Amino acid sequence: MFEQLEEPKADAILALMAAFREDPRTDKLDLGVGIYKDEDGRSTVMHAIKDAETSLLETQDTKAYVSPAGSAEFNAAMIDLVLGESASERHVAVQAVGGSGALAIIAGLLKQIRPNATVWLSDPTWPNHGPLIGSAGFTLANYPYYDNATSTISFDAMLETLSSAAEGDIVVLHGCCHNPTGADLDLEQWQAVAKLLREKKLFAFVDLAYQGFGDGLEEDAAGVRLLARELDEFAIAASCSKNFALYRERVGAAILQAASAEDAQRAHKQLSRVARSIYSMPPDHGANSANLVLGDKARRKSWQDELETMRSRMQRLRTGFAEAMRKRSNSDRFDYIAAQKGMFSRLPLSSEQLTRLREEYGIYIVGDGRINIAGLPDDGLEQLADRICSVME
Ligand code: LMR
Repeated sequence: MFEQLEEPKADAILALMAAFREDPRTDKLDLGVGIYKDEDGRSTVMHAIKDAETSLLETQDTKAYVSPAGSAEFNAAMIDLVLGESASERHVAVQAVGGSGALAIIAGLLKQIRPNATVWLSDPTWPNHGPLIGSAGFTLANYPYYDNATSTISFDAMLETLSSAAEGDIVVLHGCCHNPTGADLDLEQWQAVAKLLREKKLFAFVDLAYQGFGDGLEEDAAGVRLLARELDEFAIAASCSKNFALYRERVGAAILQAASAEDAQRAHKQLSRVARSIYSMPPDHGANSANLVLGDKARRKSWQDELETMRSRMQRLRTGFAEAMRKRSNSDRFDYIAAQKGMFSRLPLSSEQLTRLREEYGIYIVGDGRINIAGLPDDGLEQLADRICSVME
């Protein structure tokens, strides 16, 4: 029966990862998948996580199941990390299999409550948002978000399109460090979005995958916390993949804000049931390690310091690369790279230009021009700018 299956359409990011691995050139450059890399191109285990894992190894004496909702302590710590002082008994969380797992279980719950809703995704968005949320059975639509020609947010067009959404529709927003553009809403824009969501009775579904990679842990949660103040109900898929560098351990949290504490408890039980119906219980190791970091003063400080080092390195690379592009292109066209946030920005390159970069120089960039800022070479920004500009001429 499997002979009936067609080749699936390749995922742009995974396909690029595979092509990079197979390229034998030693001076190749990976600006593809969103993994933080240090100056030496390595994605290392954070010190606080290593310490927490060591403690786990020494003290853990059972591998018995925890629960479909995972660790209550981890869930409470995640609510605190994401919502800060806005956290209340109207918030509940379920430990999830990465940020993607959180997206999936929230989508499953929403499908039960609003089966006919359309889910609105930003154009562009992370290429897996559509398949992941769509697999819950939702109809998907796009709202304009980014203008490639000017490298700015198409905010008026975004609001105009969302005003035409039907009551009860669901709007996916990137909490910070928009993937793939790096273009984030400012607080005034968040406020305008919150007002529209409230007036049109739309449901906000926030993907928060990069908290701490933009302006800082607190600053990056400002949009989400504004929604918490302005809306009765909304959902957040939080990921620990990037800010704890726990990628392969799959750690995240699905957080709900309900209109009352009673609603929140009911929603928590239903969300746990969705998790149970998909994979029964989440993996423990990564979330347990993150919890041992969040709940221990010394480890938490070490984690925050290391995260800050990563964040400020990306900021330096942004500034340095924008400068190199300004010099080489003799224009301010690329200044936006310094102003954008987080791990990604987009270069206005055609697929022919991207192919030339890959074939001539071994520079791997996702097909929409998205670059991983952490993959930029600290000592090779001018050469990289040269090469990029050479294919643009
Ligand atoms: C990315 O956008 O590169 C990451 O979120 C990794 C992935 O799974 O696509």
